[in-house]
Amino acid sequence: MSETAKIIYDGKEYELPVITGTENEKAIDIGSLRQMSGLITLDYGYKNTGATSSKITFLDGEKGILKYRGYGIEELAEKSSFIEVAYLLIFGDLPNQDQLERFEGAIRNNRMVHEDYKRILGGFPSRSHPMGVLSSLVTSLTAFFPESLDPNRSPEGVNLSIVRILAKMPTFAAWTYKHKIGHPVNYPSSKEDYCSNLLHMMFKQPGADYEVDPVIANALDKLLILHADHEQNCSTSTVRITGSSHGSLYTSVSAGINALWGPLHGGANMEVINTLENIREDGGDTKKWMDKAKDKDDPFRLMGFGHRVYKNFDPRARIIKKAADDVLDKLGVNDPVLDIAKGLERVALEDEYFVERKLYPNVDFYSGIIYRALGIPVDMFTVLFALGRLPGWIAQWKEMRENKEPIGRPRQVYTGETNRTYVPLNQR
Ligand code: ACO
Repeated sequence: MSETAKIIYDGKEYELPVITGTENEKAIDIGSLRQMSGLITLDYGYKNTGATSSKITFLDGEKGILKYRGYGIEELAEKSSFIEVAYLLIFGDLPNQDQLERFEGAIRNNRMVHEDYKRILGGFPSRSHPMGVLSSLVTSLTAFFPESLDPNRSPEGVNLSIVRILAKMPTFAAWTYKHKIGHPVNYPSSKEDYCSNLLHMMFKQPGADYEVDPVIANALDKLLILHADHEQNCSTSTVRITGSSHGSLYTSVSAGINALWGPLHGGANMEVINTLENIREDGGDTKKWMDKAKDKDDPFRLMGFGHRVYKNFDPRARIIKKAADDVLDKLGVNDPVLDIAKGLERVALEDEYFVERKLYPNVDFYSGIIYRALGIPVDMFTVLFALGRLPGWIAQWKEMRENKEPIGRPRQVYTGETNRTYVPLNQR
């Protein structure tokens, strides 16, 4: 017997179905509520609203669990590769050897971008934020591959769009960086793995040799795995909602990049490092900055703390904290900012304000420290986050299309003026 929930309103009782997920989460399906009762539900920031059912990622914020397609994030981060995880997220299962080779081979062979991209990049002032440039370059893929605009094309056509964006986004990211610093771009190589190719394009200087350090390439690969999906967060919901109007994969991902950019979401990784640097320059007084974060008259927030769904700990932050120690150790980097970060975490974990509000370090708190140790410039941090999140966006877009989900269109409660009469300009 399926479960139901009852809503009593204005003396009448309305019975609504309760949906149960495979991890036993429960949801009241309110799809018919308005038709039955005239009521809608209101939930600012969708804090308690499920927008879809999904088979891709499960997370339990209270227990700090994160799984992609049923595999724990800890195991994937330790044993898998980013490309394997991308395949898992997008196609539902881990690939066998043949499937992995074909997928990886297709990505290697599609890394080149049209030579006109150099001219497009040349139109951006060098002070442009790389996230804005990246989202523009991704949208412009629709101009080079107009067939990608048709959301009803064959599965092979969709797969080609998927491979193209996975292959070309690292090229866009590296070229954006090179343009920003005024250096000539490096062409992609089909011989290198995903992360080594990216590092090569970003850091090879004209006339100089560049050897990719495997410690750096492996650490980057792990970071990308940890960022690869996170169910219905701000940017992923943006991707799904953009795609729900039958927008193409490229325009949907571009919308996701813009949503990720904000400092409350992916942009937090830049802000964390800026804040830690400010604390260091200010003499390292963590308490002073904690007090600022707690002061309701001060807009300052301690970036890298707090999460919409993790109210206990962020499992990704645990893995990253350990990875940060390993990487800094292996590279022989002694970053004073890491000590400030650890001090801040210690104080926050015991502070009443932070404990009461369940504010713990999130994935972005330590990722910036690793990126810095790997030599990635601060304003490229969020671009790397976008590269990591790309398979998740693709998987969620594909699932939404395959489920034939309706266009996303929330309702509202109108609270504005009613029935005003137009007053001519000279009488106002
Ligand atoms: N510093 C100080 N106070 C905070 C912080 C913070 N980082 N985060 C939340 N709070 C306080 C709020 O002021 C609020 O206090 P109140 O109840 O006294 O009004 C309470 O904690 C709850 O905060 P909300 O903003 O309502 O929580 P919400 O779930 O809407 O926001 C968010 C989550 C956006 C992540 C928030 O914690 C935040 O701004 N953190 C800093 C930015 C950050 O690190 N973002 C990255 C998130 S991870 C990611 O996107 C990959």
